[in-house]
Amino acid sequence: MNRSILVISPEREVLQGVEQVLAAAPGVRLDWQATTLAEMNGHAVQMSGGYDMILFRAAGGDPAEIRAATDLAKGRSGDTVLVAMADAGLSITEAHALTRAGIDAVLPISILAEELPEQIERLQRDRSHRPERMGRLIAVSQARGGVGATTVAVNLADRLLSPADRRRAKQTARVALVDLDLQFGTVGSYLDLPEQEMLMQIAADGTIPDANFLRQSMPVLPGGLSVLAAPTRFVPLEALRNEQVTAILDSLLSTNDYVVVDLPRALAQWIEPVVRRADQLILVSDIAVSSIRHCRRLIDFFTADNIALPVQVVINNESRPLFPSALHREAAKVLERPLDHWLPHDAKAAHNAADRGRPLSQVAPRSSLSRAVGRLAASIHARFPAAVQTKEAL
Ligand SMILES: Nc1ncnc2c1ncn2[C@@H]1O[C@H](COP(=O)(O)OP(=O)(O)OP(=O)(O)O)[C@@H](O)[C@H]1O
Ligand SMILES: [Mg+2]
Repeated sequence: MNRSILVISPEREVLQGVEQVLAAAPGVRLDWQATTLAEMNGHAVQMSGGYDMILFRAAGGDPAEIRAATDLAKGRSGDTVLVAMADAGLSITEAHALTRAGIDAVLPISILAEELPEQIERLQRDRSHRPERMGRLIAVSQARGGVGATTVAVNLADRLLSPADRRRAKQTARVALVDLDLQFGTVGSYLDLPEQEMLMQIAADGTIPDANFLRQSMPVLPGGLSVLAAPTRFVPLEALRNEQVTAILDSLLSTNDYVVVDLPRALAQWIEPVVRRADQLILVSDIAVSSIRHCRRLIDFFTADNIALPVQVVINNESRPLFPSALHREAAKVLERPLDHWLPHDAKAAHNAADRGRPLSQVAPRSSLSRAVGRLAASIHARFPAAVQTKEAL
């Protein structure tokens, strides 16, 4: 297939690097603008129509660059894919600013050689299929065992169903909850679901599930939440393949507004397709120094493959402090992000919900814990507002 790529970079070495990587790819035309995106001063928008992809060197931290990226993302024509190439100096905050501006991917320049051909394929597929991929993937991970990740995943998924704005009561979102904690998953018991053998079956026979298979395997709760629970019997973590996880996620993302994934504590190989697709990672932690350090390591791990992935750390079992202590300030510094979400310890509400196999919104809607989860869901609704559908349209 013929493709055309525009490289915008003051350094010729970047162009040469891209040329080398693509030498083996037939039918790719490369053009070069020896300047920065900011200095192109709007010309990039005019030129975008002629290219399938624009790769530009991102300096980061330059408001003019963000303005230029925003203009380019808004003004681009057709399916032009926009990729920023970042060196190691680009901070996560700067990478976020670029994706918020509408840039499709921010790739560390160090992995360009390995990943560019695959990224070109993937980004073009994603863009040409964009109308199908309407859902947002929210992955939930934990800083230590038992910190409350599944409680967050289950109740967040439940709260994402209903709109933040009560005046739009007729509207509802389509939400799927997937328990990928293959060996120790508890989503099924938290929601009092009968045993589900789907993940076990595909791990055993290697089937790649399609939309039909998923629909038949996933029960839908009365509130509308569809759930894929973990097997109740032991399955080796590596029994699942990347292609299977990819197929499950892509299928659910094409039919849901939000897909919430409860991740296992051990980082299996098939975490990669989850991380690639994630629009938001929620790390559930407590404020202990060891947990915060583990969060930091997890953030580094997850953002290595997806540098612009927004990561939100949620502190569980602790009310938001009126005044942040030195420990809290230190934690925010280590994590390079503010601690915006705190879920208070509320043993009664949490245990009641787990015992009765119901979400907090049904068992203890007025509890401080349920309200705090509601605020977390509202922040996701606010970040990804377009996802809410009207009931009539379903
Ligand atoms: N804010 C809270 N207040 C009181 N109890 C809580 C709170 N959050 C979670 N719990 C309780 O803590 C226990 C562990 O929670 P949960 O299963 O959500 O943690 P997890 O991180 O998913 O654990 P695992 O490592 O087993 O996956 C459960 O009994 C749950 O009811
Ligand atoms: Mg869990």
